[in-house]
Amino acid sequence: MQERLKELQAEALEKVAQAADLKELNDIRVSYLGKKGPITEVLKGMGKLSAEERPKMGALANEVRDLISGQIEAKQNELEKAAVEAKLAAETIDVTLPGRPVREGNHHALTRIVEEIEDLFIGMGYTVAEGPEVEKDYYNFEALNLPKGHPARDMQDSFYITEEILLRTHTSPVQARTMEARNGKGPVKIICPGKVYRRDNDDATHSHQFTQIEGLVVDENIRLSDLKGTLDVFAKKMFGEDREIRLRPSFFPFTEPSVEMDISCKMCGGKGCSTCKGTGWIEILGAGMVHPNVLEMAGYDSKKYTGFAFGMGPERIAMLKYGVDDIRHFYTNDIRFLKQFSVTE
Ligand code: DAH
Repeated sequence: MQERLKELQAEALEKVAQAADLKELNDIRVSYLGKKGPITEVLKGMGKLSAEERPKMGALANEVRDLISGQIEAKQNELEKAAVEAKLAAETIDVTLPGRPVREGNHHALTRIVEEIEDLFIGMGYTVAEGPEVEKDYYNFEALNLPKGHPARDMQDSFYITEEILLRTHTSPVQARTMEARNGKGPVKIICPGKVYRRDNDDATHSHQFTQIEGLVVDENIRLSDLKGTLDVFAKKMFGEDREIRLRPSFFPFTEPSVEMDISCKMCGGKGCSTCKGTGWIEILGAGMVHPNVLEMAGYDSKKYTGFAFGMGPERIAMLKYGVDDIRHFYTNDIRFLKQFSVTE
């Protein structure tokens, strides 16, 4: 009997040592230590033993049982630990792996020019005003001294929505709206950036949708010399201190007198080259003294108040400043073009 117990002990410990997982280990426990297991079976034969041998055999059987269950427990701990470690190993994150680069965005070239111009005028005491892109014929034309049938309306081929509503062809209607809202009381000092629309065929210098920035100053005693001084500051800040400006007579229905402003050509210093088509000057914007009719229609007394206005295209300014040769680059969103204007600010 003793031998049989030793044999069972050796057999069980061998199996425990080789158990590969917790389920297998549990099966071993049940088969060796369970009520129907071989040890119990051996003990059933104890009745045949002598009174002396019986307690010895009982003690040995307990010893064997304790040993086996102790080993099972030790093996169980070992298997559980191994399972946790395997799980941790499977879940580790390799923090040394380089991250995927996120492509950095930046302000669009046009946005930057518009903001630069805004900042410049805000620095001179202007505020920024905005108006609707879907505009009434009245503000886009009539209130700007362009009555129905006026030939100058043809200069700005328009997208009409109804007979009275159109996509604004310029930012000048914001002038009329702002003055009207002030009920004839000055002063007004605004710039109005925004999108405008014209029925043009797109090419290198035309786009059916583009940007304008309008400027308007209304007060008592505003003179053409104020306009010239303002435009001179603007041109030098925008294009360089060495630039000169000149005003040429022009025509706009909403200004009288009207002018066009040129800046001296940087390429040739004013001598004449291909950039300035031999003239030494480059056209930048239109401007003038607000027409008395425009002031009166907005409720201003034109004997008391005078004003100047100007309108410019930021695309044209960006093209000249950065040497961009096609206006369509601003709208086609070619990343190679846009990236050239990325700056870390
Ligand atoms: N609205 C004009 C245009 O789109 C530009 C302009 C010219 C605006 C002279 C003005 C101005 O305010 O005084 O062609």
